[in-house]
Amino acid sequence: MKYKIGVCQFKPKFLDTTYNLEQMKSLVGNIQADLIVLPELATSGYFFNSKKQLITISEDAYQGQTADLFLKLAKKNKTSYVVGFSEKFKDKIFNSSMLVNPNGDIHVYRKTHLFYEETKWFNPGNTGFKVFNAKDNVKVGMMICFDWIFPESARSLALNGAQIIAHPANLVLPWCQQAMITRSLENRVFSITANRIGNEQNDSQKLTFTGLSQMLNTKGEVLKKLNKTEESVHLVSIDPEKADDKSITEYNNAFGDRRTEYYNL
Ligand code: ACM
Repeated sequence: MKYKIGVCQFKPKFLDTTYNLEQMKSLVGNIQADLIVLPELATSGYFFNSKKQLITISEDAYQGQTADLFLKLAKKNKTSYVVGFSEKFKDKIFNSSMLVNPNGDIHVYRKTHLFYEETKWFNPGNTGFKVFNAKDNVKVGMMICFDWIFPESARSLALNGAQIIAHPANLVLPWCQQAMITRSLENRVFSITANRIGNEQNDSQKLTFTGLSQMLNTKGEVLKKLNKTEESVHLVSIDPEKADDKSITEYNNAFGDRRTEYYNL
């Protein structure tokens, strides 16, 4: 099965939801693919310094502006999208991503492992690592940025049947892109890390986001890697069913050979 996946890297403007939605629309709005992944907190920017600030840009997962835009694009382009946003749910705010499908379905993941000052503003995610059908029933699991440092995140998604890991990110540490090679390889899954670029200043602290978004195959090979500064969308063609084959040699299987009785998890 041929399946066209894509990554969109860009520079969101802090708290400028209108600009960010327009910019995403101009980047991906006229591209037809099967699945495109965009960065973490793509509608709002990242480096908040109060809950009040966060509340102004947080939205309902199913009826907010982000859902509205991507539902329209999904229908028009017959493409599934994964995009990061700040989710308001009752009295809680989650750092979330949504998978939006051409048939109108929306599935939500809430970031499990909060990074740095996110812990001051967001509630820890409570969805766990579920796997959802994207376009053509391809199995997609979501994790967000810092979830990468816990191998259990990608492993849980793969054990739950993910063929592709969609990984919106706002990376500031230098190790993730390398580490994701191992995550893809050890789980025999495709992965799409959609990172952002640019800087954000908060009082005296400045964060620089590392770009270098990438798409990897089930052997951890780089199918496409972006640079540190480009705002762009790139597509590659894959066969998602390759992720169902967990064999490594004729004697070894990445899942079948696990010795769970010896693991302290
Ligand atoms: C991160 O989790 N945004 C680094």
